[in-house]
Amino acid sequence: MASPHTTQTSVPRCALVTGASTGLGAAFATALARRHYDVILVARHQARLEALATTLQQQHGITATVLVADLTDHEALRRVERHIRQDEALTLLVNNAGFGTIGPFATRDLDQEEAEIRLNVVALVRLTHAALPGMIARDHGAILNVSSISALLPGPYHATYGATKAYINSFTEALHEELRGTGVRVQTLCPGFTHTEFQQRAGVNTSHIPRFAWMTAEAVAEIALDALPRGRVVCVPGRLNRLVAFLLGVVPRTVVRRITGRLASRVLE
Ligand SMILES: NC(=O)c1ccc[n+]([C@@H]2O[C@H](COP(=O)([O-])OP(=O)(O)OC[C@H]3O[C@@H](n4cnc5c(N)ncnc54)[C@H](OP(=O)(O)O)[C@@H]3O)[C@@H](O)[C@H]2O)c1
Repeated sequence: MASPHTTQTSVPRCALVTGASTGLGAAFATALARRHYDVILVARHQARLEALATTLQQQHGITATVLVADLTDHEALRRVERHIRQDEALTLLVNNAGFGTIGPFATRDLDQEEAEIRLNVVALVRLTHAALPGMIARDHGAILNVSSISALLPGPYHATYGATKAYINSFTEALHEELRGTGVRVQTLCPGFTHTEFQQRAGVNTSHIPRFAWMTAEAVAEIALDALPRGRVVCVPGRLNRLVAFLLGVVPRTVVRRITGRLASRVLE
């Protein structure tokens, strides 16, 4: 079985990245173009996607295709699914699009909570389902699901977000076992604080978060892509995040809940 990153002259390599207009998705698309993947860029903001596509084509000589889609929209999601099913060159799917909501659940806008589940979970599940049969038939491919370190703990004041990410980890680890013996790999990526538009969109007050806790989107994307051919199913990028993940595994859940509730209440605006 060829690794998703090995250079193959006979098999063209193509990656579809959701949420590619900015942040981690744009960093993934750039890192993949540097590795000579053709890329399909999916998000809502057409101008941003087209600007990135032009830059990647000029700088790396690859083909970059833009698919404008709101993945919380039923019809738009079906359109991306069809594109994936028909693309026989698709080697890598990066399910990256996602957003977070913050605040006491009881007072949150319920439609926004539902949209969060539709984007972070439903779109990821449907796109994975669209990609897998072709990858399994070709005995080659990978799916990289962007989760969060929030998946590893109950998240007071971001209850829906943490639960969507816990779903991604459980789902991806289960698929990993189902796909044993095939040439298809899956990874759930669990970043911590990463410099993107995520916190601003979620309305998180980042002034209490120490500088050393942050990573760049570029570093996170590189670590995830390097881990993929090594078959690491749960990828926690960065030493500090790995330490946190380790502690979350040994400290009693009741203590973790209390501490995260206190810390999370400090970043509410
Ligand atoms: N940044 C962090 O600290 C952090 C930590 C852990 C995990 N993550 C995860 O990393 C992933 C990427 O987030 P980010 O940090 O790069 O945030 P970001 O800078 O806000 O980017 C989010 C991306 O998702 C796209 N998107 C949002 N809603 C969409 C929709 N309805 N349909 C299609 N695309 C949509 C956005 O593009 P458009 O607005 O153009 O649609 C954008 O490209 C998310 O899954 C997030 O949960 C982030």
